[in-house]
This record gives sequence, structure tokens and C-alpha cells, in this order.
Amino acid sequence: MGRQITISCFRFNPNIPGDKPRMQDYKLEEYEGMTLFIALNDIREKLDPTLVFDFVCRAAICGSCAMLINGRPRLACKTMTRNLPSHFTVMPLPVFKLIGDLSVDTGKWFRDLQMRTEAWIHTTKKFDFNALEVRMDNKIAEEIYEPERCVECGCCVACCITANIRDDFMGATGINRVCRFIIDPRDERADAEYFEVVGDEGGTFGCVGLMACDDMCPMELPLQENLAFVRRKMAGAGLKLTFPGIKL
Ligand code: FES
Repeated sequence: MGRQITISCFRFNPNIPGDKPRMQDYKLEEYEGMTLFIALNDIREKLDPTLVFDFVCRAAICGSCAMLINGRPRLACKTMTRNLPSHFTVMPLPVFKLIGDLSVDTGKWFRDLQMRTEAWIHTTKKFDFNALEVRMDNKIAEEIYEPERCVECGCCVACCITANIRDDFMGATGINRVCRFIIDPRDERADAEYFEVVGDEGGTFGCVGLMACDDMCPMELPLQENLAFVRRKMAGAGLKLTFPGIKL
């Protein structure tokens, strides 16, 4: 017999007139290998088909199943219930628009970020369909791959104090994305152009350095390191814009 666990789930559907936010308890028997994702599916299949939450991959790849688990943003599919107390809470991520219960709309937030940071290669080179692929140095490819591991789950945004009080803060994930393009030699944007995008308090200078993003990232990305890298670049670009001709 496995342990008996109680999951207190946040329940509220803003699309149902008169619905009120509340916590609802579900009791389950835990079994070997149970993740929170499995437990929530068991609830939906056996106890309550109305419970709303998101998932796609079940393998910590798509980033859909992020939620507050006992107050900490984590991926449900990467969280073993045996590592949690026998009674714990699950709530939707803050900052993002609530769809219902544990489901939030991270898609729109990340789409806006994509447009704001213009997260694509900017080059003046004409694309030649017939040309051979240009080989990239392994070291640079690995450096680019590191920030690319972000699964856009929103955990770093949900635990960020600045993102919780400023609508325009792009969070560690946004700065991580800019970092990815700065180190890509195919992107021809100058630092001054990136400064336009992240050189203010909505970007790299909005971080107050509490480092929760670094602690909570389920992919263990070096978010503070990437922030420091972009911040140094932007400080230099800001100085050059203010004092043209300055040597750094
Ligand atoms: S379901 Fe894809 S990350 Fe959890």
C-alpha cells in the first residue's frame, strides 16, 4: 500500500459566471514512480474530470505543466510526489493570464516576448537556397545551445519579484533569449540595437538580483550568468551612446 496523499488544488474558472476562487482537496494513493503530472491525471480520470491543467510532452520538454507546487514554481511532470509532504498545494503560476484552475496562458506572453526581442537572426546576407550549409564552430554552437535549452515554462517569471510588480519586465527568460542572439555570430545587430530592446528597467536593468530565477529554473540554466553578460554589454552600449568616442 502506498502512502495516502492529499493535493489541495486551486479551483477557479473565470469563464464560468459566478465561479469563486477556492481550494479543493483530492485524496489519492501514491504509487511507485508517481509524478505530480500522473497524480493530476489520476484526479481527472478517477475523481474529477473538470480539473483544468496543461501538459503536452510529460518529459520536461514543452514547459506546459509549470505550476506553483507548495508555493514554488516547478514542472509537474518533473516533480515526484514522494519528494513532497503527504499534504501539499498546487496553484497556477502568477504573472500569466489565468485560463482556469492550474492552467495559464504562457503562450501569449512568450509570443509578445518573441516580437519584442525580435528573436530571429538579423542579417543583411541574402539567403541562397542552393548554397551549402555554413559550418559553425563547435564551441560557439555549444554556447548558443545553452540558452536555447529554455523550455519557456515561465517558472523564472513567476518567481521574479520584478515580473510580479512590473508588466513590462521581460524576466530572466527574455534576457536569456537576447543573450542567445548576442553570442550568435550570424546575427548582425550591434550592441546599441540590443540596448533599444533590453537597455532599460523593462529589461536587464529591472532585475533586483534576488536570483530566484536561477534557483527555480527546472532546466538549471545559468540565468544570472547570462543576465550579467547581457548587462555588461548593455552598460557598455549605454556609455557609448551617452559619451560617443569613449574607449572601453
Ligand atoms: S508536460 Fe511538457 S514540460 Fe511537463
